[in-house]
Amino acid sequence: MSKLLRLLGGATLAAMIAWPVVAAEAIKPAAREWSFNGIFGTFDRAKAQRGYAVYKQVCASCHGVKYLAFRNLTAIGFTEAEAKALAAEAQITDGPNEEGEMFQRPGRPSDRLPMPYANDAAARAANGGALPPDLSLITKAREHGPDYVYALLTSYSDAPRGMTLPAGMTYNKAFAGNQIAMPAPLTEGQVEYIDGTKATVAQMAEDVVVFLHWAAEPNLEARHRLGFQAVLFLLALTVLFWFVKQRVWGDQH
Ligand code: HEC
Repeated sequence: MSKLLRLLGGATLAAMIAWPVVAAEAIKPAAREWSFNGIFGTFDRAKAQRGYAVYKQVCASCHGVKYLAFRNLTAIGFTEAEAKALAAEAQITDGPNEEGEMFQRPGRPSDRLPMPYANDAAARAANGGALPPDLSLITKAREHGPDYVYALLTSYSDAPRGMTLPAGMTYNKAFAGNQIAMPAPLTEGQVEYIDGTKATVAQMAEDVVVFLHWAAEPNLEARHRLGFQAVLFLLALTVLFWFVKQRVWGDQH
């Protein structure tokens, strides 16, 4: 009996100690309606293109999307000429040349998007020890990825009274532990959208999530189409089998 009491006491104590940690749990990201959800889901091209602008103008200074080449951008509706022009805006490290030196040249469509840092150590050194993860697969790497990344980008606020944040940390309700080493990346009107869309924080967050989810799942639309065709095929097959069965067994009573 006393053993049981001790156990109970221990559990209560553990719960009390654990309480502050529980209090700093991340909020559950709200489920949003994305055009890519559901079996007919597709990527909204305009949002994905604006999302690329957000990525390039804001996130790319700290995060790479290492699996993406400029020519891939035609899949979200950029023309080949536009993809070529976007590539040419980037400076790519190439080489070595005949003198054995690396050199910079304008990008070509076949180049991958440039990485912000030469290596992880450089990335950490520039971010107070924290590593900005590569964003190629981030919407797949986190639970409810698109909703989570949207929530993360829109959940910055002042820390609650009485909470002191370590240097270099920012309060964010959507991040586990509520303190993140990424300063709020988006501010109202930060990105100039060429299609005239108003660049609110919510709009930029939504657009960049569409872009990142496309980067993580470029085959989503093809997969959805195939899934739908497979369902149609199976339906047709079922009807056919039913007729065959009627034909063969219909007069057996
Ligand atoms: C000034 C550099 C900087 C910029 C700009 C920046 N980030 Fe980050 N980001 C970071 C750092 C550092 C971390 C790691 C934070 C940590 O572990 O506390 C991070 C983490 C993240 C994470 C991962 C969170 C997790 O669950 O681990 C996501 C997603 C993210 N950033 C998205 C973005 C997007 C999208 C943009 C552009 C709108 C952006 N970031 C702009 C520095 C940056």
